[in-house]
Amino acid sequence: MTSAEEIEHFFQVAKLLTLEAAEVIKDGINELKDIETKSSDKDLVTKYDKEVERLLFEKLSNEFPDHKFIGEETSSTNKEIPELTDAPTWIIDPIDGTTNFVHRFPQICISVALVINKRLEIGIIYNPCYDEMYTAKKGQGASLNGKSIRPSSTKELKKSLVNLETSALFTTSKTDIGLARFNAIIEVAHGVRTIGSAALALAFVARGIIDVFHMDGLKSWDVAAGCLILTEAGGTIIDTKGGIFNFMAPKVIAAANEVLAIETSKLIIETDLKTLRKRLKKN
Ligand code: IPD
Ligand code: CA
Ligand code: CA
Repeated sequence: MTSAEEIEHFFQVAKLLTLEAAEVIKDGINELKDIETKSSDKDLVTKYDKEVERLLFEKLSNEFPDHKFIGEETSSTNKEIPELTDAPTWIIDPIDGTTNFVHRFPQICISVALVINKRLEIGIIYNPCYDEMYTAKKGQGASLNGKSIRPSSTKELKKSLVNLETSALFTTSKTDIGLARFNAIIEVAHGVRTIGSAALALAFVARGIIDVFHMDGLKSWDVAAGCLILTEAGGTIIDTKGGIFNFMAPKVIAAANEVLAIETSKLIIETDLKTLRKRLKKN
């Protein structure tokens, strides 16, 4: 078993290394960047994403040689996501919000989580543009720059500010599903925002400035840290279709509380049924 002292040590080291790696983002934000694409024309990567991940992997493995890693850019280069084992594993998104980073839109973060025995123990999300660091340790609450955070007390979707991301809409086989979900939520909610970083969207729910965040098709590195920060802040995260949330295959409904999460999930299930009926009628 890992002791509380060991977890504290892992946490302090990871926090310092995250701040160090953030200097790479600060150096790059105003530069004109060479952009490469990965799975599609809209899936961007820069040398800064790779450098942040390299730095974190190298320095964390010097400190903790028996720890494992799951990182976006390494997985993308190797065309394989490592399997999650019981070993301590760092799950890292070096820049969540790369499209924002490329366009100098300041909603960007480094997302770092530590999982031990397949359980989330540490979550760190840092936005260097605003010097905002969200942190959580299992069982110890969540904070923003050292101050405790809580989700909002909103209990109805019709009184909610909701974050939805557009990238899910471009999977052609699912565009109708995604657009119908957008429409259904826009009709009900106070407002809808698209901030371009799933990790920050989770942190915003934890902090109480967004009430609901929904998106399917994410990866573990987008949500691992944010999932712990949100639940430790007192929020709820469930699978889109209402089941238990799996951070290794994330379909996300994150909400200030369970009532709001369930209302959103029910709306999505009803909306999907209508979309599927429409598809059947067309064929
Ligand atoms: C992206 C962001 C975005 C989400 C995308 C992710 P990246 O991560 O989290 O909000 O809509 O699906 O891929 O590519 O900037 O690390
Ligand atoms: Ca990324
Ligand atoms: Ca990401």
